[in-house]
Amino acid sequence: MYQKRLQDPVLENDWHAVYLASELKEQPVGVMVLGERVAIYRTKKGVHAFQDLCIHRGAMLSKGWVQDDILVCPYHGWQYDSSGQCVCIPAQPRGEKIPPRAKAQAYSCMEKYGFIWVCIGEPSAELPHFEEFADPQFRPLACGPYTVHAAGTRVIENFTDFAHLMFVHQGLLGHPDYAELPDFKVIKEKERIYIEDVPIFQPVAHSGSDKSEGTTYVYRKEVYRPLSARLTKADPSNGQALWIMLTVLPVTAEECLVFMVVSRNYAFDVDDANFIQFQDMVFDQDARIIETQKPELLPLDLQVELNHKVDLFSIAYRRWLKELGVVVGTI
Ligand code: FES
Ligand code: CO
Repeated sequence: MYQKRLQDPVLENDWHAVYLASELKEQPVGVMVLGERVAIYRTKKGVHAFQDLCIHRGAMLSKGWVQDDILVCPYHGWQYDSSGQCVCIPAQPRGEKIPPRAKAQAYSCMEKYGFIWVCIGEPSAELPHFEEFADPQFRPLACGPYTVHAAGTRVIENFTDFAHLMFVHQGLLGHPDYAELPDFKVIKEKERIYIEDVPIFQPVAHSGSDKSEGTTYVYRKEVYRPLSARLTKADPSNGQALWIMLTVLPVTAEECLVFMVVSRNYAFDVDDANFIQFQDMVFDQDARIIETQKPELLPLDLQVELNHKVDLFSIAYRRWLKELGVVVGTI
């Protein structure tokens, strides 16, 4: 179905993770960013993204193929180089000039942190440098992507939220008997919002255990772009830590694709697949709630919904989105 491109002065100039890097091969793939169809593909020179539309008759370039580093449209075989320039129109008599307008719209595209990233506007900033990815003590694993029929802003808000851990993830990440949150302070800077050192008690999970036994984990959470956030969860008693980077692709205003990297510095003997499976389960619990929320879009007016003291992070997030002028996924 035809989807109109969504206008957003911030998100269209942001980098968005659109695909798992390990899965992108030469064969072009179609993704959607802010309602815009985007074709991505890989050549020997790197990864590339075009508007998924051939200027000739509007066929999808992602349904075409790559031949000698050239993207070929599936309809009449026009060929585009990696800058988007059309270099061959097979039906045109040899020696004739290619019309100058015969171009594919190329977008900024790169590969980093295990994902393919695309910006459909002018990148307003570089992707942040996360030294954790190079830390040999940690083992990053890509999880997802997860399709969520909800606004990306609702996913980020959920990621910053502590008070749901004891209910939505009961038995996995908390327990209702330990739902009271400590006081915490949200620090807001121009480019990010974060909290540091929030202790959350997590009882032992297995059945039959005394729930007063458990671990007090120390959390840090940070939202560093409107739709990108990360957290660290550490056990100070033994130095074991887990960090998660989560970034949300706004497919449309009410549908998103969530990419996540989970990394740990412990239990290397445990199968990676188990960690991914655990994350899938936790995320699914969140998604099932997020998809039911009304209004679907995040209200930036703090009079809508009931904002409580325990929602300080979410309140700061909404204020920040308003300041930045983020439109998509908000009302
Ligand atoms: Fe692409 Fe005609 S539509 S070559
Ligand atoms: Co959750």
